[in-house]
Amino acid sequence: MRQGEGRRVYVHEVAPRDGFQIEAMFIPTDRKIALIDQLSRTGLAGIEATSFTSPKAIPALRDAEEVMRGIRREAGVVYAALVPNLRGAERAMTVGVDEVNLVMSVSETHNLANLRMTRDQSFAQLTETIRVVGGQAAVNASLSTCFGCPMEGAVAADEVWRWAAGLLDAGASGITLADTTGMAHPAQVGEMVEAFRSRWPAARLTLHLHNTRGLGLANVLAALEAGADRFDASLGGLGGCPYAPGATGNVCTEDLVHMLEAMGYRTGVDLGRLLDCARLLPGLVGHEVPGQVAKAGRIQDRHPEPEWLAAVRAKALGRA
Ligand code: COA
Ligand code: ZN
Repeated sequence: MRQGEGRRVYVHEVAPRDGFQIEAMFIPTDRKIALIDQLSRTGLAGIEATSFTSPKAIPALRDAEEVMRGIRREAGVVYAALVPNLRGAERAMTVGVDEVNLVMSVSETHNLANLRMTRDQSFAQLTETIRVVGGQAAVNASLSTCFGCPMEGAVAADEVWRWAAGLLDAGASGITLADTTGMAHPAQVGEMVEAFRSRWPAARLTLHLHNTRGLGLANVLAALEAGADRFDASLGGLGGCPYAPGATGNVCTEDLVHMLEAMGYRTGVDLGRLLDCARLLPGLVGHEVPGQVAKAGRIQDRHPEPEWLAAVRAKALGRA
């Protein structure tokens, strides 16, 4: 049996949020909606469609309500939105999201830069938000800079567990460990996943990995081996936090699905349809994107023989 042995892996698409938030060009609302609708038909487990943040902080996603109202929701797909504070959650509730993805950083410096609050202030906002959202939507909490902060450096695992414990106790049903600027390496990822799972075996764990230093898929493998089964990923490898120096794209969704399916994991994603989406991106964002399988094709794709090969073959066989 191959390594994945048919194990289910859940892939959450975050390009419409993590990807578009950092693009210099404003992507027109109708084009965002069209891409999300096309992504909805690929079999992805979830799509983070936008964020309800301050339009001054993230002007690229100032159309969050219009996007959520405009998309055609497919049964079985979880539609999530990133929310930094109570005001964001109230906005999200007016248009209906399946899941609110709360965000705060484990690093005080990154929290101040990104959210303009201390961690204690963020935590107070988020616990109040969990209370207000109540049963209206599922609540996941994403912890940024879990594997290192571009300004503070190393982040202590105990700090990660302190904030994760607080958010779970407050009622979050899942935690995302985010490697905001690709500072994680596989050994660290494996240890963190094991530690999380032994502390909270029943809590839903997601990994949000950036490929800033080329370690994205290696980190995914380490997480899988330690028992993780949920990953955020971004079409084309778009993405990055505008308030984290040096941030670049996420693990690329189509490259991730391609690897997982080749290894015998089950993602439920139709890779052909996903690649069709990925190939729209350069036209949508106005530049090349990092994803590799959309350019190289799948392992099983075949190139035609060059025409001159027939003559070479005949000559070689003639010598035999
Ligand atoms: N949605 C829309 N507007 C919001 C808002 C929200 N969720 N939260 C606050 N605002 C508005 C306020 O109404 C106020 O508007 P006004 O200037 O017209 O009166 C203004 O923003 C300032 O409010 P304040 O509470 O002082 O916010 P702030 O300026 O301290 O910013 C955040 C705090 C969290 C709203 C902001 O830093 C933010 O949105 N950060 C998100 C960063 C992000 O998404 N990073 C990438 C993903 S990790
Ligand atoms: Zn990210």
